Amino acid sequence: MSTLNTIKSKARSNSQVSTLIDFLNATTAVTAEECQYINEIVVESLYKLHPNQDTLSLRQSLWSQHFGVPPLLHQLYNERVIDGFIEKISNKNDFALMDDYLLRALTGYQDFFQVKTENDFLAQFNEPDPDSSGKFIPTLNQQGYMTTDLLDEYSQRFIQIAKNVASTGGKVLEIGAAYGVATLKALNEGASIVCNDLSPEHLAVVERKHQQLGKGILQTVAGRFPNEFVFENDQFDAILICRVLHFFDGPELVNALRKAKAWLKPGGSLIIVNETPYMETWRSFVKDFKHKKVEGEKWPGVIRDTKKYEQHRVRTLPPLVHWLDHDSLQHAFLEAGFLADNIRISYINREGQFPPDMIMKDGLGESIGGIAERH
Ligand SMILES: C[S@@+](CC[C@H](N)C(=O)[O-])C[C@H]1O[C@@H](n2cnc3c(N)ncnc32)[C@H](O)[C@@H]1O
Repeated sequence: MSTLNTIKSKARSNSQVSTLIDFLNATTAVTAEECQYINEIVVESLYKLHPNQDTLSLRQSLWSQHFGVPPLLHQLYNERVIDGFIEKISNKNDFALMDDYLLRALTGYQDFFQVKTENDFLAQFNEPDPDSSGKFIPTLNQQGYMTTDLLDEYSQRFIQIAKNVASTGGKVLEIGAAYGVATLKALNEGASIVCNDLSPEHLAVVERKHQQLGKGILQTVAGRFPNEFVFENDQFDAILICRVLHFFDGPELVNALRKAKAWLKPGGSLIIVNETPYMETWRSFVKDFKHKKVEGEKWPGVIRDTKKYEQHRVRTLPPLVHWLDHDSLQHAFLEAGFLADNIRISYINREGQFPPDMIMKDGLGESIGGIAERH
């Protein structure tokens, strides 16, 4: 309640947030289940309307039994309920109507799972078809593409570690897994894996495929890395972040690596794969990149207006991307607290793994991989 009051006092200018909190105090929900559900939807709506440290903390304490985020089915089922509820607040509907709406949604939720299994529910989630090259599957949230099958050597190393540690009860984490190309291969090797992505719809596909596979142990956690979900420190044998950190600027990148480092066991490996500027479709950026390096810019691969350099796939990308090279990845690892002797970095030639128009024959490699061991 004190957190709610803090939020309310800070959100005086935001009438939607204020209305939500007043609604929570006025609801007619009686059973413990109804109260719990209404509380959950109100907290999710608060966070969606007003994402800040206070609403995030409130959400994390509500879901403290589930890494600080709602479980996958909850997120998938209630996304539309929350949007409908927010619309009602915006339209200044009265509390009785809002109450009725949520209690009906709860009944719908209960009825649904009384007649349908989790498998039935997940059956509606599918990945889109690959692009014309067959190498890339578009994400559902404008976050680029997932590679279809052939994995780079760093992702393969992650799968190898996942397999090796599984027999002694170890576990690994993948961040930004999309539809799970690496996670599913690790599960096939019997891994115990925590699989994260920003999009619950992507993770629904991973869950469905895992059920068909019937091997390994999977825990899905949908949320934005590195702040939305909470893991205990010192618990993973390896963490893979493949083709995700190019959406982070320099300081965000270092902060993210620091967080991931803390989640690793001592001796655990943080494995990063990222795109470099040396992609044929980004050729026009290479000159600017080299110039920025000569000028001594700390993060020369940051582009704040993707449209300026790329026309082919720009619609599938956010406005900011960050292409790394050997120096900038090394720099990020060191700033995050890894020791130089524990870091190995090399360029990755993506011929056969990326669409042919992206391959730069005279470049260093379209991607860069790095593995850093926590001391
Ligand atoms: C370009 S895809 C890469 C997918 C896959 N890892 C691969 O190597 O092909 C980026 C994925 O990262 C997810 N993502 C982007 N930012 C994220 C964040 N901050 N936290 C968690 N996932 C994120 C997106 O939803 C998307 O599925």
